[in-house]
Amino acid sequence: MSIIILAIESSCDDTAAAVLRDGVVLSNVVASQDVHRQYGGVVPEVASRAHQENIVPVVDLALRNAGVDKNELSAVAFTKGPGLIGSLIVGASFAKAMALSLGIPLIEVHHMQAHVLAHFAEDPKPALPFLCLTVSGGHTQIVLVKKHLEMEFLGQTIDDAAGEAFDKTGKMLGLDYPAGPIIDKLAQSGQAVYEFPEPQVPGLNFSFSGLKTSILYFIKEKTKENPNFIQENLPNICASVQARIVSILLKKLRKAAQQTGIKEVAIAGGVSANSGLRSGLEALGKKEAWNTYIPRFEFCTDNAAMIAVTAYYKYLNGEFAGQDAAPVARFG
Ligand code: KG4
Ligand code: ZN
Repeated sequence: MSIIILAIESSCDDTAAAVLRDGVVLSNVVASQDVHRQYGGVVPEVASRAHQENIVPVVDLALRNAGVDKNELSAVAFTKGPGLIGSLIVGASFAKAMALSLGIPLIEVHHMQAHVLAHFAEDPKPALPFLCLTVSGGHTQIVLVKKHLEMEFLGQTIDDAAGEAFDKTGKMLGLDYPAGPIIDKLAQSGQAVYEFPEPQVPGLNFSFSGLKTSILYFIKEKTKENPNFIQENLPNICASVQARIVSILLKKLRKAAQQTGIKEVAIAGGVSANSGLRSGLEALGKKEAWNTYIPRFEFCTDNAAMIAVTAYYKYLNGEFAGQDAAPVARFG
């Protein structure tokens, strides 16, 4: 008999649902909340309310696109965290109610583990063990994936995440939120002519707060000389910032590969949609003789297919949650 899983992701500002049959993604629906753009960042209260409005139509559409009736489902999965607690509660409560009413198991999924396992939503899949650089709005981590559900953290950011570095730079430049994709687009018509300092962080950890400060001082100084500096040089500023963020990420990834001797190397999370990081990884991978894995765009940013894939492995392991399952904003 087939294993059919409905997964719900509501950790931040995307309401998402996906259906997976025997490890194959049948549907993957995301409703992004554009309402936050006007505030220059995600407003938690607004996000929870939008999830509440979106969740029924998004789940309906995911089932319809998959051609699956809810009575055929084997389990319902949801994101346990990390994320915004009010947003997580909407997805968790919905999943619990659905599992209870259908009399099927409930599965809770760690959002960052799911970003890594997004690689198993499509082919080619990385061979185990592999290294994954997971870069999102809230996290920057290098993970050693030993088994699907067994991951070791080799390094992480000690302050800001890579996505935050993009988004905060965008704010300084007067760009909309989230600025990552906007900076990426602008960078494509610019040159990395400005040099931002590289942080000196030991081991496989990252730091982006110093970079943020140096960008702030750079902009202040340049606009003092020329009030139109930003408008006149936006593509070059974006290309320079992006080049530095990418170089910081890839340097540590290379170090991790050298230390572990692993040549299966992947990237995941929202920032893995960045064109500079994608092409940088490909080039480095060729040089280092790695097999590199870059997710399709829809599996980079927040989505429920990755939650469904992770839930599938948990289902096979018999790892189910009770009705007392409660989401958490942070782990550890
Ligand atoms: O994984 P994700 O969708 O949500 C979190 O779990 O945080 O990641 C969102 C982050 C945001 O910081 C956004 O600016 C960044 O991913 N992002 C990008 C690009 N697309 C999304 N950053 C740089 N370049 C992109 N193309
Ligand atoms: Zn995410």
